[in-house]
Amino acid sequence: MEKVFFNGEFVAADDAKVSYNDRGYVFGDGIYEYIRVYNGKLFTVTEHYERFLRSAGEIGLDLNYDIDQLIELSRKLVDINNINNGAIYIQATRGVAERNHNFPTPAVDAAIVAYTKSYDRPFDHLENGVNAVTVEDIRWLRCDIKSLNLLGNVLAKEYAVKYNAVEAIQHRGETVTEGSSSNAYAIKDGVIYTHPVNNFILNGITRRVIKDIADDYEIPFKEEAFTVDFLKNADEIIVSSTSAEVTPVIKLDGEVVNDGQVGPITRKLQQGFDKAIATRSI
Ligand SMILES: Cc1ncc(COP(=O)(O)O)c(C=O)c1O
Repeated sequence: MEKVFFNGEFVAADDAKVSYNDRGYVFGDGIYEYIRVYNGKLFTVTEHYERFLRSAGEIGLDLNYDIDQLIELSRKLVDINNINNGAIYIQATRGVAERNHNFPTPAVDAAIVAYTKSYDRPFDHLENGVNAVTVEDIRWLRCDIKSLNLLGNVLAKEYAVKYNAVEAIQHRGETVTEGSSSNAYAIKDGVIYTHPVNNFILNGITRRVIKDIADDYEIPFKEEAFTVDFLKNADEIIVSSTSAEVTPVIKLDGEVVNDGQVGPITRKLQQGFDKAIATRSI
């Protein structure tokens, strides 16, 4: 049976039972990461765990693990479960304590759970593109923290599904922020635009990879907020995430983008991403 990392041990998945008093369950009081595995190796894992520790710091959560320990336990999990292509999900909550909003006093140990999934790259979406819709961003003001509180994201994604789309691109008023589980980009006249890194978006690791690829290919990459109207008039649209990689959007709110074709800059970024898989996995 598949093994799960559960508070310091590798146990059979069926034995990983969480208390009803876990603060992740009660309050969503915790953080997570999602790390891709390609050919048995961890992709951009240091960047993911740096962000994990940053998220922990931002919510005052003491993890008692450093980056090397997190990478080591991830490697072990991938090896034990024999994962070739897939991902690791890891989350940490503020532990188990009687229900009170304030932090437990005395503090309790963080509860850490990690498991693996096995699946292939999203070749169909990468090749043919996906539909997306736009939706108002109703989330809190610390979207830079990869928090377990994902209700706004859940509702946005469900809205997408309702309208036969793969992703919902969110906007605060007129300003496009990011997808429900991805970063969003508009490409216009050879320039890639995406929301700047601040409290309104998650600083995506795939976004950073894309930025590096754009730099390598000398494609201008502007971290500038843009409007829904600008997005609707873009030459190409992309959403990116650890699982979606560089996914082209070929229809937005029912209107075709770039005559329904995947555009040339998107294709270049995808080529660069294929190379990054080889160079940034350890
Ligand atoms: C809200 C949100 N923004 C952006 C991303 C993309 O982040 P990454 O590229 O690190 O997976 C995600 C990924 O889950 C996300 O949930």
